[in-house]
Amino acid sequence: MKVSIIGVGKVGVTLGYAMVMKNLASELVLVSRSAGRTRGEALDLQHAAALSPGRVAVRSGDIEATKNSQVVILALAESADKGGNAKDRLASAEPNAKLFQSVVPKVAELSPDAILLIVSNPVDVLTYATLKLSGFPPHRVIGTGTLIDSARFRSLLSAHYNIHSDDIRAYILGEHGDSQFPVLSAVFAGGWHMGQDPVVKQSFEKTLSVAPEVFLAKGYTNFAVASAAAMILEAIRDNSHHTMPVSTLVQGYYGIEDVCLSLPAVIGRTGIAQTLQIALNEEEQAQLHHSARQLSAVNSSLQS
Ligand code: 2OP
Repeated sequence: MKVSIIGVGKVGVTLGYAMVMKNLASELVLVSRSAGRTRGEALDLQHAAALSPGRVAVRSGDIEATKNSQVVILALAESADKGGNAKDRLASAEPNAKLFQSVVPKVAELSPDAILLIVSNPVDVLTYATLKLSGFPPHRVIGTGTLIDSARFRSLLSAHYNIHSDDIRAYILGEHGDSQFPVLSAVFAGGWHMGQDPVVKQSFEKTLSVAPEVFLAKGYTNFAVASAAAMILEAIRDNSHHTMPVSTLVQGYYGIEDVCLSLPAVIGRTGIAQTLQIALNEEEQAQLHHSARQLSAVNSSLQS
């Protein structure tokens, strides 16, 4: 599988490393504005590949080098501190949307059958922008969305209850940002409904604060979001049809249209095979609509 990463900052290069270690591509192309450094990253990753289980050809190049990719990952940001800013992800909407305008049409022209995987922030806004700029069908435009938040939430629950996080089903939906919400009515471990335990709600509150905590401590986040992107790539490569919350175009769920936010989606070789329409209680429906309104307002402001 040929995969191209556009944007080789801390997240892009961490994802490249995860891809090499997990043998997620047979060909990996790195594209960024700093050609010299990107060539060095490609060489370094090629050397790492020699010590990994798989076999992958890693190179750097310009956007033309992405031609005929099966997956193109958009991890570019106007300025790294804004792009990775987990304190106020929407702050980078305008500069990053402009950057996407300059890149996505060419990416789509060079790889008309590709799946586009958006990592850059604000990821829901940029997933929507990519959908419009590429003209691709919604199932082939995916944002990492709240996959990372749900993983953080599950890791907190796992630590508290001493249950492996793989066995905790807990979805955070909506915006990968302040208006995200947990589906407390659907938090289970091995059939045990955990949602009513106050610890679950407290763990969600902590989930909201852990990304800014990391950002304030080290100035950016990279490992968790790169691992989320790698998990999506793995489901595409293996056609596994695993379900995970990712940013996608909402098409009628609880009456919501024309906005991208995270819903549970089944991921396979062609991208999103289906989205799952979880039954939400009244409070959760209100939170979903609030998230949709927040994101639609930003989408509209970028188009004006
Ligand atoms: C995160 O939550 C920065 O949105 C990214 O780690």
